[in-house]
Amino acid sequence: MASQIPVVVNGATGKMGREIVKAVSQAQDMTLIGAIARNPNHVGEDIGEVIGCGALEVPVTNDYEPMMAMLSQEKQLGVVVDVTHPDAVYGNIRSAIAYGVRPVVGTTGLSLAQIQELAEFADKASTGCLIAPNFSIGVVLLQQAAVQASQYFDHVEIIELHHNQKADAPSGTAVQTAQLLAELGKTYNPQLVEETEKIAGARGAQAEEGIRIHSVRLPGLVAHQEVIFGGDGQIYTLRHDASDRTCYMPGVLLSIRKVLQLKTLVYGLEKIL
Ligand SMILES: NC(=O)c1ccc[n+]([C@@H]2O[C@H](COP(=O)([O-])OP(=O)(O)OC[C@H]3O[C@@H](n4cnc5c(N)ncnc54)[C@H](OP(=O)(O)O)[C@@H]3O)[C@@H](O)[C@H]2O)c1
Repeated sequence: MASQIPVVVNGATGKMGREIVKAVSQAQDMTLIGAIARNPNHVGEDIGEVIGCGALEVPVTNDYEPMMAMLSQEKQLGVVVDVTHPDAVYGNIRSAIAYGVRPVVGTTGLSLAQIQELAEFADKASTGCLIAPNFSIGVVLLQQAAVQASQYFDHVEIIELHHNQKADAPSGTAVQTAQLLAELGKTYNPQLVEETEKIAGARGAQAEEGIRIHSVRLPGLVAHQEVIFGGDGQIYTLRHDASDRTCYMPGVLLSIRKVLQLKTLVYGLEKIL
């Protein structure tokens, strides 16, 4: 049998973590060896039983460092998938890299400065790290179409819509989409009139190069994004809807396989497709 990739999921009892635990445990070339949760309620219980997919013989732990130490002792290079919280993710990544463990990071909310620092840290350690604010291949396609459209439109606004338990706003995907459009070296949305916001925030957040981002939070939503281009006599709208978190799993599994070949930090799923 080909060698198995040892994988630990951090945030294993969360909405994304549960799907990733299932996907990793079903992947032929991976072995789930650890499941980390913050809440001590489930510590010691089998993660498969906790998430309702049958016993996986992997107990839940809330001790991050010992788990990284254990993963670093595996014969094959180990991967930790982080789907936790913006407050925790920076420290988690640094600690994983310090142990020679490859992080695959889905958690959003890292600042550009933090990503830059982590990239330098990963470089020094010659350790691969993949940060993907969106694991959905459909979103990558939307971003590519947006970059293409931006050659022909000077006006663009982004609307991202998520469930109301999301901790950060705007979404990492919206920020990344704005960055991709900004990298083309043009300024969008030239102002034609003096605008007055009668309620602060009405025009959304101003991202790079004049791009506006609007965040909607409602129960019933999962993860959705529109990129709306306007031009004389026309509107061009690109939209992606994640109706179920299973849409992220092909991207997560691909990231786990690819991060083992990296020696530096890579930001964005599109870089490894
Ligand atoms: N890249 C992508 O494609 C993608 C897609 C969807 C979501 N996300 C991102 O993934 C992250 C998790 O999303 P989710 O919807 O799964 O959230 P969630 O359901 O709230 O799950 C978060 C998990 O992280 C744990 N956690 C929370 N705060 C923590 C902290 N300070 N330190 C350590 N662990 C902590 C939680 O543990 P307790 O339950 O014990 O508190 C829970 O297990 C978010 O940043 C979200 O934006 C990314």
